[in-house]
Amino acid sequence: GDYTGVYRPRVHFSPPTNFTNDPNGMCPVVNGLVLLRHAYTRERMFKDANGTWHLYYQYNPTEPVAGNQHWGHATSQDLYHWENQKIAIWPPNNTTFVYSGSAVVDTNNTSGFFPNQTNGVVAIYTLAHQTTGAGVQNQNIAYSRDGGYTFVTYANNPVIDVHSNQFRDPKVIWHSATQKWAMVVSYATDFVIGIYTSPNLKDWTHASNFSHHGLLGLQYECPNLVEMPMLNSTSTMYLLQISINPGAPLGGSISQYFPGSFNGTHFAAVDGAARINDFGKDNYAGQFFYGIPGDENQVSLAWASNWQYTSLVPTGVTEGWRSQMSLPRRNYLANVTSIGYDLISTPYAIESIFAQELAYNSSLGNATLLLDYASTSGALYFSANITHLTPSTLQGTVNLTFTSSVSGEFISLGSPVNGDTWIDRSHTSGFENPYFNGKFSANGQFDSSTGTWSISGVIDRSILEVFVNGGRQSATNTFYSDSPLDTLRVGVAGVAGSAGVSVGVWALEDTWA
Ligand code: FRU
Repeated sequence: GDYTGVYRPRVHFSPPTNFTNDPNGMCPVVNGLVLLRHAYTRERMFKDANGTWHLYYQYNPTEPVAGNQHWGHATSQDLYHWENQKIAIWPPNNTTFVYSGSAVVDTNNTSGFFPNQTNGVVAIYTLAHQTTGAGVQNQNIAYSRDGGYTFVTYANNPVIDVHSNQFRDPKVIWHSATQKWAMVVSYATDFVIGIYTSPNLKDWTHASNFSHHGLLGLQYECPNLVEMPMLNSTSTMYLLQISINPGAPLGGSISQYFPGSFNGTHFAAVDGAARINDFGKDNYAGQFFYGIPGDENQVSLAWASNWQYTSLVPTGVTEGWRSQMSLPRRNYLANVTSIGYDLISTPYAIESIFAQELAYNSSLGNATLLLDYASTSGALYFSANITHLTPSTLQGTVNLTFTSSVSGEFISLGSPVNGDTWIDRSHTSGFENPYFNGKFSANGQFDSSTGTWSISGVIDRSILEVFVNGGRQSATNTFYSDSPLDTLRVGVAGVAGSAGVSVGVWALEDTWA
């Protein structure tokens, strides 16, 4: 692939050419072994563990729009420097597409596919039959004996077939208490997530349904079930994530999640609330990597686009590719008095790709910082923290504006401490589309116990990701400016004198150079 285009993200994954949507089958494999628990315990261990992360993704290799779906494949040691691999899973014929799904490492050879190895990978995916069998979608498996690079299709596919044309996106985990595999899979237009169990990945038994929860939209897609660590607690919870499209509050596609419990066969949500993953418009079909222990931060990637306009964004015309993945995120749940449970998401070990410090001021106060970053990769990490806040000093605003010195176009974000955080992409002119909403906001929900309010994020050529209060709120937004944005202005105003203000900006490495 040619990664030199002006819209090409420098630290995000985008496909070599043509089109990607959902991340699929993500799993880590280490030196031929499952990455062991110790390798995850601290983020800084990623460099030493010699671990390889595998990302498969919905890939149309022939056109920059969705259609001819395959499983593309890329590997990484740190989730930022990616190496493109050969297509991993091909459709068996030209009337069939390989849709979304997941992958597991079958360490104990439950499947029988791997007599002499512990690093066998099994992919579980939907085959979508376009013209035969009335468009049936059924669940299939393929196995890899070379650590996830090449796959052999199982001879007795499909492994689950309910003769439906709306039945897809299997995501499989190992449930150790019952010593069984557990699958969540979507009966999309029935608003049902089916739960199936299996001893061997080949024979599946329907165990229960979870249905009609949260936002329904037109269909449920890409379910994920994952065990999650809890902030300030040694117990874990399960989280069921469901993507809907269309029907998002902002239009098009979005993901929601349900904290709860899972006993190997049934999932019970803690309450009836629909909690939305992201307050931007470009975060869909997120997937959690397989095999991370339940008490470690779970790692995810999402597709950073929206079905409403993904096939029209300008990169397809000018640079021959469309869509990128979000930053890799670390995730955990927090018990928050006001709303029950909240998913906290932050960029995964982003400091590992810091290139140079562009500004750092630990006592900025109420002041403005102006930075020309034209000579960098164009990708920046920024962070502003207000500390020593008390209920009586919850005041002040932080605003950031990224501007083009050539055209004056800009994208901006800001927030009063403890108020609504807003993002505005409406002053960029590279993409005109009625669904390409310009403005987003979320309530800051300051947690007074910490006395700190913060906003941080990454801008990367054509994508801006923002994290408020350490990841309590996050937003993923694509944008397309005619001229590169090369100037950053950070303005802090109205913060109480007793509070501390620190602001830092770092240029990020060009991980595709
Ligand atoms: C979600 C989705 C999935 C499907 C895939 C096809 O974005 O519609 O339900 O498996 O994309 O590419």
